[in-house]
Parts: sequence; structure tokens; C-alpha cells
Amino acid sequence: MTSTDTAPPSAPSATPVYTSMLDGHADDVVGRDARSVMARLVRLYQENGTDQAPAQWREPVRNYSDPRRWRDEINSIHRRVPLPLAMSCELPEPGSYKAIQVVDIPVLITRDAAGAVHASVNACRHRGAELVAEGVGRTNRAQRITCPYHAWSYDMAGCLVGVAGEKTFGALERGRAGLVSLPAEERAGIVFVGLTPGRPLDLDNWLGDLEPLLDGLGLAGCHHYSTRVLPGPNWKVTVDGYLEGYHFASLHRTTVFRTNLSNMAAFDSWGPHQRNAFALRPIAEAATQPPRSWDPAACVGAIFWVFPGLAFSGGWRQQVAVSLVLPGRTVEESRTQQLILLRHPPADDEERTAADTTRDWFHDVVLDEDYATGFGVQRGLAALDGTDFVFGRNEPGLQQFHRVVERLLDEGGADIPR
Ligand code: FES
Ligand SMILES: [Fe+2]
Repeated sequence: MTSTDTAPPSAPSATPVYTSMLDGHADDVVGRDARSVMARLVRLYQENGTDQAPAQWREPVRNYSDPRRWRDEINSIHRRVPLPLAMSCELPEPGSYKAIQVVDIPVLITRDAAGAVHASVNACRHRGAELVAEGVGRTNRAQRITCPYHAWSYDMAGCLVGVAGEKTFGALERGRAGLVSLPAEERAGIVFVGLTPGRPLDLDNWLGDLEPLLDGLGLAGCHHYSTRVLPGPNWKVTVDGYLEGYHFASLHRTTVFRTNLSNMAAFDSWGPHQRNAFALRPIAEAATQPPRSWDPAACVGAIFWVFPGLAFSGGWRQQVAVSLVLPGRTVEESRTQQLILLRHPPADDEERTAADTTRDWFHDVVLDEDYATGFGVQRGLAALDGTDFVFGRNEPGLQQFHRVVERLLDEGGADIPR
């Protein structure tokens, strides 16, 4: 029924092996973008530099720990902007669904017979029972979701289509008893959901010039291999760890730093979204070679970030690691779904083992190194109340993220900004 897997891996992880998917993209928007980022990174490598913000940024520590501020963030950000809550390939066919908890809202995403996605509150309109447990799955052949409590049933658009024992229950106006509907739309292989009923998503405006690049990654055609759920500290403590490569040499000395250089990234942003393109070790050799021989998939670790909490790592490769970071139920908690997508289902044991290796490697590094550190940050927040964190000029991604958070808080979510 569900592919959610929370079991920790038992053996130490091997390092994944990567294969490029850029071969067919020489002249399109993705290929041109990859080559231009690589050229920038080669220059940064030659200068031993990294893209920099014009100045440092000071962020009050209280902004990570104040429950009122946290509630404002949920209301101004997560309840207002289009939230990327699923990958299209998690719902591969009519009758597929994904259930996911977002703070205090249980969301149910479904795919109907025509292939369109819908989103609803995952709560029965009779007396509120949770319709399906969190995770992904497929409904029965009739494509009905049946409430486990008293067996009311709904179609994949959330309409009430069956009331058990209706003769004794009494008459019911079915049009008023469908699931509470939420806006939902798919773009570039991502399912976006709005948590405010009736509020348009306006994805053209929200994604802007990032959309062709996301679309070119071919995520819509991927195969969903695995999902693991990671508990984390405050959602911004967690997000901060995704947006800079300044920590690779120190925190990830025996893991990420084996494949990446540290403190060396080309930074781009599109409206609220961003990309940190980290230098991978083969760039040292490539920098001595003519550009026509460069392989960006081997030399650039590009992490696309769709605001407020979706990261793609390995978008130019055969295996893509997706991280969906969402606030938890309190200011001190977040939850991350970590997905592995493949360009096609594993054809044999060798490909399955390779996918397992990638899955375990990402899980171990992120949980044991990044999130373990984040929980340590969380433990110190109260004692640092009244002080500021400082984001360096070499951490432009952090600055951009917190600037967008500030702007949305200022606007109170009145508009969806670019
Ligand atoms: S709560 Fe769902 S049918 Fe009663
Ligand atoms: Fe990290």
C-alpha cells in the first residue's frame, strides 16, 4: 500500500556512482545552462573562490525559536504559497494517491481517471476520520476512497459518491459533503498544492524562468524508487543546511567532501527559488581541458531549491535525490521526506543495488551529519536568545532564503510574490 520506509539502514553506506543524463541535451535550455554554470565554476575553481553576497546578513536567533513568529511563518508562507508536496511519479496512474501531513493539515493528493491531480483535506466529512494513512498507494479498481470508520466513499476528485446505510442515515445533500478541496496543479513533474481553499496557485508567476529548467530535468518521466521520512529540528534550521557548501570540509569530511570541494559554489536565484551549484572534485582535471570536453554532470553538484522546501540533487544524472522539508507540529520540529527517483525502474539486481546505495548514502549523511548538527543547533537556541546568527558573504543561498521569508512575512501573504 505504501512505500514509506522509516527503517534505518544497518550497514555503512558505500559512495554512489553517478551517470549523466545530459547527453541528449546538448543544445537545449538544460544543456546550455549546465555548460554555463560549469564555466562559472571553473573560474571559481581557478580563483579558489565562491559566489558571494554583497554583505553579511544578521538573523536574530529568536526568529528560529519564537512560537508566534513560527505561526506567522506558517500562515504567511505555508498556507499561502504553492507548496510542492509530491512528485508526479509518486502518483503514476489513475487511482494513485499520496497522503502527507503539513503542520496541522492532513493533505490527500489523488489522480483521477483522466490523469488530473486533485488535493483535499484528508478527513472524512461525516465525522472526520483520516481516510488514508500517510504514504503513497493506489485505490481499489473502482477508484473510490472508502472511509475506514463508517464506509462513506469518495471519488478521486473528492466528491462523496457513497453513504453506507443511507436509508437509515437519512437524506444527505451530497454536493455539500465532498472532501474539502484544495487547489492543486502539476508542473515539471512536481505537484503543487495550496493550503488555502479557493486561493489560485498562479504557478506561471510563482515559478517564472525556473520552470523551463525544472521541466528540462525530466522529473515527470522518472520512476519513484523509495521514500524515507526523517525527523528534524525547526524547519529553518533544517533548510539552512541545504543552502550552503561552506560546511562540506568540516561536517562532511569523510562523506560529501570526498566527492565535493568545500566552500565553492555558483549561486543563482529565480524569484523565491534558488540553485547552489557545488564544485565536484573532477573539476580540477576539467579545468585543464577545453570546454568541449567538459561533463557538467560529473563536475557540478547542482542543488535546485523550490521555495519553501523542495531540493533536487542530481537533476542532471540518472538518480535524483529529492528532499521535501516541511515544518512539523511545533516550532521545534520539521519532517523531511527523502525520495530517490530513477530515470527508469531498476532492470536488474545490479541497478537495484546501485539505487539502494544512493538511497542509503543520502539517508546516512543527511540524518547522521546534517540533521544531527541541526538538532544540536536547536538545543542551543534558547540560550542564544537575544543574539544574532551571521550569514557570511559566502552563504548567498541562506541570505536569499531568509530575505524571501522576510518579504512574505511583511506581505502577510497578500500576494504571491516573484
Ligand atoms: S467518519 Fe467517515 S464515514 Fe464516518
Ligand atoms: Fe550538509
